[in-house]
Amino acid sequence: MRFPSVGAPETVASGSVAMQQSVVAAAEGAASTQGPRARWTRGSAMKAMIMDRHGGLEVLRYGDLPDPVAAPGQVLVDIHAASVNGADTKVREGGAYTTISTFPYVLGRDFSGVVASRGAGVTDVAVGDAVFGVLAAGRDGTYAEKVAEKAALLCRKPDQLSHLEAAALALVGLTALVSIEDTIKLQRGETILIQGGAGGVAGYAIQLAKHIGARVITTASAANHGYVKDLGADQVIDYNKEDFSKVVKDVDAVFETVGGDVAARSFAVLKAGGRAAFIASGATAPPSPRSDVRSLRPAVGRDRAHLERIVQLHAIKAVRVPELRVFSLRDAAEAQRISEGRHFRGKLVLQVR
Ligand SMILES: NC(=O)c1ccc[n+]([C@@H]2O[C@H](COP(=O)([O-])OP(=O)(O)OC[C@H]3O[C@@H](n4cnc5c(N)ncnc54)[C@H](OP(=O)(O)O)[C@@H]3O)[C@@H](O)[C@H]2O)c1
Repeated sequence: MRFPSVGAPETVASGSVAMQQSVVAAAEGAASTQGPRARWTRGSAMKAMIMDRHGGLEVLRYGDLPDPVAAPGQVLVDIHAASVNGADTKVREGGAYTTISTFPYVLGRDFSGVVASRGAGVTDVAVGDAVFGVLAAGRDGTYAEKVAEKAALLCRKPDQLSHLEAAALALVGLTALVSIEDTIKLQRGETILIQGGAGGVAGYAIQLAKHIGARVITTASAANHGYVKDLGADQVIDYNKEDFSKVVKDVDAVFETVGGDVAARSFAVLKAGGRAAFIASGATAPPSPRSDVRSLRPAVGRDRAHLERIVQLHAIKAVRVPELRVFSLRDAAEAQRISEGRHFRGKLVLQVR
């Protein structure tokens, strides 16, 4: 089953801040006559990992924010688990990737939890339903005990997936599906080079490519060769010892998740007519130095259909949950520190409750 490409790349839209802030402001406004202390003791405050300015890990603080409120079409979800993604660091640091003008701000894009209340007009999700998903493109806010999001973007969490597992699969699964199925349109019998195989998105992509029936070559450091072979990789290149561009030739496709020089050198391994998709080189695909291959930037939107595909692929055992490393919400800064090292494998997940 294939789904059309949806939405915009993984960038932070200016509207995201306004949306996050409007939720905070609405809750603050609702409780303003009580004063802050009364608001917290009334139980309307949630714990969150908050940032008050752009910067390094030191800008993250564990504290209280007013509970979000579900607007029409939204549900309020009690978050059980959230995952840590590369984008979180980019948003925290600000600069070229995005600049947030209104603080406090809460990071985090994907989550799993239980519906606590519904806004007007929501009929397809009930209070008490376990759901998981990714916030609308450009929004952040899942490093917290609660989040409000459009019900139409969320998917029912199956019992076979724990909250930690569902949160771990959401954004990486969505990104890999849009990249491999919708953008590269990988076919049975083709060969693909997946760069950075031990990472979250690439680990999902290796399994998906094998499920499609492709031959998979991947790059990883020696310590992760067993891990990526176990995911299904047919050939693994130790990028510390070998130059992939000298070992790999004439592949049908490249899925590039590392960025920088690795992205620039990836064009050389494609056969004429080949296609390469890039998710770690910014909001647009790097220009192709070859006129006979295509450079693509997957447009990773959000929708329920792709999340249902994640559930389906897990149910038929085509794609399993990555190796998880679990942190408490309070320890989100430590999880981000490890994420920034870019040499962990699988997924970093926050256990929120
Ligand atoms: N919607 C979107 O557009 C979207 C969504 C998700 C992620 N992204 C972006 O995609 C990128 C990957 O994200 P991710 O979360 O999947 O990755 P990740 O988990 O952060 O990747 C870490 C992995 O990269 C590997 N690695 C580091 N340097 C490498 C190199 N030179 N060659 C091969 N492997 C290398 C490491 O393996 P070793 O320890 O073996 O080196 C490590 O396992 C990030 O830039 C992220 O922001 C974009």
